Amino acid sequence: MQKFIINGGKKLKGEVKISGAKNAVLKMIAATVLTDKICILDNVPRIKDVETICKILESVGAKTRWLSENKLEIDPSKINSYKPDPDLVEKMRASVVLAGPLLARFRNAEIAEPGGCVIGARPVYEHWKALNKLGVNVIQTESKSILKTKKLIGNKVILDAMSVTATENVLMAAVLAEGKTSIRVAAAEPEIQDLTKMLRKMGAKIFGDTTHAIDIIGVKKLNGVAHKVLPDRYEIGTYAIAGITTGGTITIKDVIPDHLDIIVNRFEAAGANFKFINHKGEYSDLLIEPSKKLHPIKIDARPYPGFPTDLQAPMSVLMTQLPKTSKIFETIYDGRLKYLDELKKMSAKINVIDNHTAEITGPTKLHGAKITSFDLRAGATLILAGLIADGTTEIDNIETIDRGYEKIEQKLQKLGADITRINC
Ligand code: EPU
Repeated sequence: MQKFIINGGKKLKGEVKISGAKNAVLKMIAATVLTDKICILDNVPRIKDVETICKILESVGAKTRWLSENKLEIDPSKINSYKPDPDLVEKMRASVVLAGPLLARFRNAEIAEPGGCVIGARPVYEHWKALNKLGVNVIQTESKSILKTKKLIGNKVILDAMSVTATENVLMAAVLAEGKTSIRVAAAEPEIQDLTKMLRKMGAKIFGDTTHAIDIIGVKKLNGVAHKVLPDRYEIGTYAIAGITTGGTITIKDVIPDHLDIIVNRFEAAGANFKFINHKGEYSDLLIEPSKKLHPIKIDARPYPGFPTDLQAPMSVLMTQLPKTSKIFETIYDGRLKYLDELKKMSAKINVIDNHTAEITGPTKLHGAKITSFDLRAGATLILAGLIADGTTEIDNIETIDRGYEKIEQKLQKLGADITRINC
């Protein structure tokens, strides 16, 4: 068990390098099951969830090896099982996306009930209903789902909810299915777009993946691939908020502005002072400078291109520093406002109206407190709060943060923050 101790009040200053996106790389590692050739992924974050998915892949026979700090080689040639280790699968929601690739390779998959952050109802029936349209028979027991097909055959699949992982599961089953699959009400997050970029390099035929209508023409075989993972939008957002709320001057290196539209739209509405500089192809740096006048805002967390639910919690810390009343409307999860109780312990003025709606009134001086991280994004939020609070903030259960943020305290220390990890 470890804790973060933060002495707040430091203005952040300097440059921060963003890691590869967790919610892309986990699916890319799963996608290597679709080939028997070597795959090399670059810009892979050294986070707990990546460690876990590598172990899951090894549990079915793959070999993984770090070629350098962030370059991972996966050899899927010896995969010989369609039953990933249930104890590992239960640790992480993203492991559900192994279903599509395992079905494509073995026509069978056995997936234990996937775990992950506790943020509200996260059913998987959508995944199984969608795969059933491709000819998959599903038997659900208390502890696992048993999936079988004689042959994956393309079909039209209309999702009930724009689920990221359900879209990815169908996509990865469909690339090796017979004929055409059309996914409608598909999720279109940039992380899915980057996964399709990788699958295309492997030989897959995918169309329309920047929209909510994705078409896939099945092919017989996929090749190995070398692919660089896109930068993590949520990590970018987190450091940007740290820059704005501490009144610092920071440069967030190598971001893809096109993926940040609604995020920078909300920063702009709040009166934040930022600009994209040093353009290199699709990449730019994001410069955050002290703001003169801030304004209240409203965010609606929705599927892409709407405001990402994964930045809903971090935005609440910015809201505590905005004048008047700002509003959060979380449409995706019904349990993702619990962290607000921890912010209240730091003197934030918060009115939780229901499971989806909250109002935050500011600007408020936050005070250091002993608080608990309930999930990955909530944990990052509490760090942001600690950075601007007076006195000392102590955050426990920080393993939740290590699941998705690479070297967070080291990156913040480099920007001048007083944050230390201690063993308890
Ligand atoms: N849903 C259904 N039926 C289903 C599946 C989902 O109604 O069968 C609904 C859920 O209730 C929810 C919405 O669809 O309202 C999306 O939920 P889901 O749990 O399916 O999301 P996900 O695809 O598993 C991914 C990210 C999440 C991110 C969401 C939304 C991964 C591994 N996870 O989850 O990331 O919040 O999309 O963008 O890609 C995180 O990184 O901290 C995280 C939680």
